[in-house]
Amino acid sequence: MTRVLVTGAGGLAGVNFVRALRASSKEYYIAGTDYNKYHILYPDVDARYLTPRHSDRTFITRVAEIARKERVDFLHPQPSSEAYVVSAKREKVPCRVFLPPASVMRVGQDKLLSEKRLKADGIPVAKTVPIAGKADIRAAFSKLGKPLWARARHGAGGRLSLLCADPEEARLWIELWVKRGGVGYDEFIIQEYLPGRNVAWDSIWKDGKLVTSYSRERLEYPFRHISPSGITGTPSVSRTIHDPRLNEVGQRGVRAIDPNPNGAYSVDVKESADGTPCITEVDSGKFHSTMPLWGYIAVKHLGMPEYANLADLYVRLGMGEDLRDAPPKTDLLPDGYYLLRDMDVGAYLWREDDGSKQKVL
Ligand SMILES: Nc1ncnc2c1ncn2[C@@H]1O[C@H](COP(=O)(O)OP(=O)(O)O)[C@@H](O)[C@H]1O
Ligand SMILES: [Mg+2]
Repeated sequence: MTRVLVTGAGGLAGVNFVRALRASSKEYYIAGTDYNKYHILYPDVDARYLTPRHSDRTFITRVAEIARKERVDFLHPQPSSEAYVVSAKREKVPCRVFLPPASVMRVGQDKLLSEKRLKADGIPVAKTVPIAGKADIRAAFSKLGKPLWARARHGAGGRLSLLCADPEEARLWIELWVKRGGVGYDEFIIQEYLPGRNVAWDSIWKDGKLVTSYSRERLEYPFRHISPSGITGTPSVSRTIHDPRLNEVGQRGVRAIDPNPNGAYSVDVKESADGTPCITEVDSGKFHSTMPLWGYIAVKHLGMPEYANLADLYVRLGMGEDLRDAPPKTDLLPDGYYLLRDMDVGAYLWREDDGSKQKVL
């Protein structure tokens, strides 16, 4: 039996990750942590613990203490913020992890640094203006036209993003957050607005080699009508797609951020007006929220081999296990499946071509 500790286990991604491990033929003992006393009740874990937030000095010692007490073999820190702290303090953790080095994650978690790195490698990205003060906001519009997309350099879920019609809107938006404290002008970048398809390319790598990947298009976000940007983090409607351009740009994007990829890498792509796939983010060491859920669906509802259970595959690789069958490197999942999910409605797998529908959660 492999003993696993999942941090952020009460978040959507954490709950999906734990559920997927439970669907494995392998028996897992799973302990989970969260900082939220309500959310920690959600995952199907054998033991649950509260921890401080990742920004608290005692976070890593608490996680290490739990790992020791639970005799954990493998630690999966699900939220990017926690994964970064674990990678940076790797020597404190008494078990295996499957994470890129903190130097890589630092670039992946800063949208300005990653934009520069990707651009230097000739990978399509949105034209970007870094903001240091008020004057740069006006300059961004003179340079790039309008409308433009304002966003934070750090964080997830479309943090502090807004489509701004003109420099005045961008200034009011940015200054509201600066006035509230906690961020400076330099936490913002202003980018060319990419109006095309919103796509995710999710992948698992081992020792610099791509193990498997799949692409999906995000079609709707929950509660989008009550959010200023319409981006609320994880989609309520998405569909699997096959597109060789995404397989190429995804791999190039990961390699640009990490020359020796190891673990999970989630790449976000938004298409420009002429349909060019531009990378907006390379989240290194990260499972997108629905990545473990798609893997769960693959083995439970699509009859796929066990390697398609991405959470299980990731833990096995992280534990140094050799795979019996190698999954396809790209387009792991068949295309044309829609995942429909929302608060209180459960989750459904649907096909538009034949109208078939299955309840998956
Ligand atoms: N330049 C842009 N133009 C239009 N939409 C964007 C742009 N950059 C990001 N987005 C939107 O914001 C979403 C979240 O951005 P992403 O790069 O994934 O960062 P994070 O997930 O860390 O918030 C993207 O999926 C995309 O829909
Ligand atoms: Mg993202």
